[in-house]
Amino acid sequence: MDSKVTLTLAAKLAFVSLVLGLLYPRSLNPFAPPSIPGSNDQLHAAEIIQLIGAVGPESLAFDPNGEGPYTGVADGRILKWQGDARGWTDFAFTTSARKECFRPFAPELEHLCGRPLGLRFEKKTGNLYVADAYLGLQVVGPAGGLATQVVTEAEDQPFLFTNDMDVDDHEDVIYFTDTSRSFQRRQFMASILSGDKTGRLLKYDKSSKGVTVLLKGLAFANGVALSNDTSFVLVAETTTCRILRLWLHGPNAGNVDVFAELPGFPDNVRRNSRGEFWVALHAKKGLFASWILSNSWVGNTLLKLPLSFKQLHSLLIGGKAHAAAIKLSEEGKILEVLEDSEGKTMRFISEVEEKDGKLWIGSVLMPFLGVYNLY
Ligand SMILES: *[C@@H]1O[C@H](CO)[C@@H](O)[C@H](O)[C@H]1NC(C)=O
Repeated sequence: MDSKVTLTLAAKLAFVSLVLGLLYPRSLNPFAPPSIPGSNDQLHAAEIIQLIGAVGPESLAFDPNGEGPYTGVADGRILKWQGDARGWTDFAFTTSARKECFRPFAPELEHLCGRPLGLRFEKKTGNLYVADAYLGLQVVGPAGGLATQVVTEAEDQPFLFTNDMDVDDHEDVIYFTDTSRSFQRRQFMASILSGDKTGRLLKYDKSSKGVTVLLKGLAFANGVALSNDTSFVLVAETTTCRILRLWLHGPNAGNVDVFAELPGFPDNVRRNSRGEFWVALHAKKGLFASWILSNSWVGNTLLKLPLSFKQLHSLLIGGKAHAAAIKLSEEGKILEVLEDSEGKTMRFISEVEEKDGKLWIGSVLMPFLGVYNLY
């Protein structure tokens, strides 16, 4: 055998055994991401609010009266939390054909049942805007029920993976992300591992009903948040572990820069009342994830191996479930890091919403919300 072939084979064998090794011995796993320097490892103290017959409360929003939160779950419903006594009630849907939508988690049905991700209320009307991963941008009135389509395509290209948004109440525009032009939500691991860079940040103008593509070529365009004075909008680029800032007004209008580099994969971004931003990390970026993402052949090879979603996901997160949330200043400085490094209560968090001294925490995979007392 020629030595080059031998070497390639040896490299492949080493690679496969590394992959297999990572999938098994959890406690011995040297690839589990370490704690973030300076972090406060107290997030496990969060109180749990269990969902009933539902999983994956990805985004959370309070209505203009302060009620809720409302959250979209994996079976396509949008639920409202009515407090301990009344619990959860059904609030809205993004599709009427819901006959088959009774299983809490059935990714193969998401295009039929809908998968509501980012939620935002428009303050002046109380309308709830919904970024449904499969059904585009939708809106539902304060009484709930069936949501209606707002927009489903831009530049003649239908959205494939609508993800998050923010609403500018004054200018009547909505900023939102379409995560990928190649992969749907249920294929999100393939989007990350293949290094897909087809995400877009878009703007919808309510009066003209026009859609503008603001940024394209993003590596998993995810959370969206406006600054308090709307001078810029942030967009999380999950695969590159960065938050980008697009200037909307002022001397830099139209320019884009890197607002923050993060020690993990950012999901939603939410502003608090002081103008700071909470970023939920789906997971921290460990050694193995760094290696995968800086060598595109690794991710693409992994996708060809007979690995389940769970196994691929386990490789990306370093074999151990955990949670991390990061607070950024209005200038993009890391102000605070909260972790549940052992994943004792919180795992795979997708959003952190600060309200009245508490952090309300969603997760795209878990069957509960977390509520963490800041003081
Ligand atoms: C946010 O903007 C409003 C005006 O739109 C201002 O009154 C308020 O003080 C700002 N808040 C912060 C924290 O900068």
